[in-house]
Amino acid sequence: MKDARPAAPLPIVVLISGNGTNLQAIIDTIARGRLPAQIRAVISNRAQASGLDRARRAGIPAEIIDHTRYPDRDGFDAALQAAIDRYHPELVVLAGFMRILTPALVKHYHGRMLNIHPSLLPAFPGLDTHRRALAANVKEHGVSIHFVTDQLDGGPVIIQKAVPVLPGDGASALAARVQREEHRLYPRVIRWFAEGRVKLHNQQIMFDGAPLTVPLAGESA
Ligand code: GRF
Repeated sequence: MKDARPAAPLPIVVLISGNGTNLQAIIDTIARGRLPAQIRAVISNRAQASGLDRARRAGIPAEIIDHTRYPDRDGFDAALQAAIDRYHPELVVLAGFMRILTPALVKHYHGRMLNIHPSLLPAFPGLDTHRRALAANVKEHGVSIHFVTDQLDGGPVIIQKAVPVLPGDGASALAARVQREEHRLYPRVIRWFAEGRVKLHNQQIMFDGAPLTVPLAGESA
């Protein structure tokens, strides 16, 4: 007999450093009933991050763990990990979290930490991707969502969505085009994780039970 009860929502913690528009997209998708997840907490390393207000407005616990108050990365990451784990998330979502994490922390969340990166990885890891894409004269730019490993922006990529670089684009026009796609893509990938459709086995992404050998394209699935 089929169980009529809906599965419990996936408990997640979202880490931010800034504006939190991706956080907002996740909040809104949950509110529309399109994402079976519960944001247990939003944690920022910056007290001024306006994403914290987005969390508070949605009634989500918002915490600040200010990295400048810790003598080193290990100290900060230990405090961050303890704060995250108090909420017992099954998934940690990096949404514009601008700190490099230590291998110990990354290992602790192996297979249960996602990041969104504003480029078509492996192109343009690191910062300032829109300006660098324009300087490199690429015809396409975009966004990638990947599992986090200890390689900076180098973990296995689940999905990418390309956007065109148009004549006359400046970095902010290009960033806005990429962000529109980010806001569609991130809630979708989190839903797949919640539904058990996407998972990481060692370093291999499994999607619908089969190894994913190339990242999904934004249009697929
Ligand atoms: C996004 O462009 C994301 O790809 C990158 O940081 C930005 C965060 O934007 N990692 P927001 O804070 O979600 O508005």
